[in-house]
Amino acid sequence: MSLRASVLGALLGAVIAFGTACPDGPTDPTDTDPDSGTDTASDPDGQDLYESHCQGCHGAGGGGTGSGPALAGHLAGKTEQDIRSIVRNGEEQMPPFTADQITDSELDALATYVINQWGS
Ligand code: HEC
Repeated sequence: MSLRASVLGALLGAVIAFGTACPDGPTDPTDTDPDSGTDTASDPDGQDLYESHCQGCHGAGGGGTGSGPALAGHLAGKTEQDIRSIVRNGEEQMPPFTADQITDSELDALATYVINQWGS
């Protein structure tokens, strides 16, 4: 096989692999939250926001990781306003999140989710 033919073959293979890797588009069959996937800027989903911005450090289910403390069982006395200010300002090892990363309405949904899950 010439070099050109093998390069074309590799490219074709890549295109086919790419096309079949994601047959159903953005629908995630493991996502049981009926809100997910239909969210708009005016209807932010606190759980989605937690999973994309916070879970990497605070863990699935708020259980904590090596990069961040558990939230579950540690938010006694905290209010949604406290959560909003921790997220906007950061705290020690936790980086702040700007309005470019999490908008004000997203932050409201996120704070509500966090307090509903782990507040007292
Ligand atoms: C890079 C890792 C990291 C990310 C991402 C992160 N946090 Fe944190 N978070 C931390 C660390 C570390 C602390 C402990 C800060 C300290 O030393 O006081 C913390 C503290 C907190 C606290 C205070 C807990 C307490 O016991 O007082 C809250 C609430 C919190 N984070 C919520 C969030 C939320 C909500 C998000 C997502 C927007 C988030 N964090 C994203 C690392 C992170």
